[in-house]
Amino acid sequence: MYSEKVMDHFQNPRNVGEIEDASGVGTVGNAKCGDIMRMYLDIDENQVIRDCKFKTFGCGAAVATSSMATELVKGKTVQEALSVTNKAVMEALDGLPPVKVHCSLLAEEAIHAALWDYAEKHNIKIEGLEKPKNDISEGEEEEDY
Ligand code: FES
Repeated sequence: MYSEKVMDHFQNPRNVGEIEDASGVGTVGNAKCGDIMRMYLDIDENQVIRDCKFKTFGCGAAVATSSMATELVKGKTVQEALSVTNKAVMEALDGLPPVKVHCSLLAEEAIHAALWDYAEKHNIKIEGLEKPKNDISEGEEEEDY
């Protein structure tokens, strides 16, 4: 059911943890299952993502997609990081079963939420980045579904 890459990233997830004094932090919830993910970005003065870590209270597919997503955004600029969509992550993992596709959205949304946080803190605009809907950091009201 799962590709070898998914199993590998699920069993040995990369970049699990927290970054102290992160440049941007995003926390999102998956509307379908209630799982939660937090993403930390460390971004240098050239807007390049130096480091990225995540924590998740989610299923195996969420763990695997976040792990791959952190690998993909590292070394990218904040603008380039927008290309790390859930589709790109799934492709990098050689696919996910259809019922698990929604899990991969958590990683994409968490990256966007962390980028949004970074942009707000630094008063910059990241072209094409929209305020993440599922950002549940800072006690913002959760979406009604
Ligand atoms: Fe919740 Fe996969 S079932 S993220």
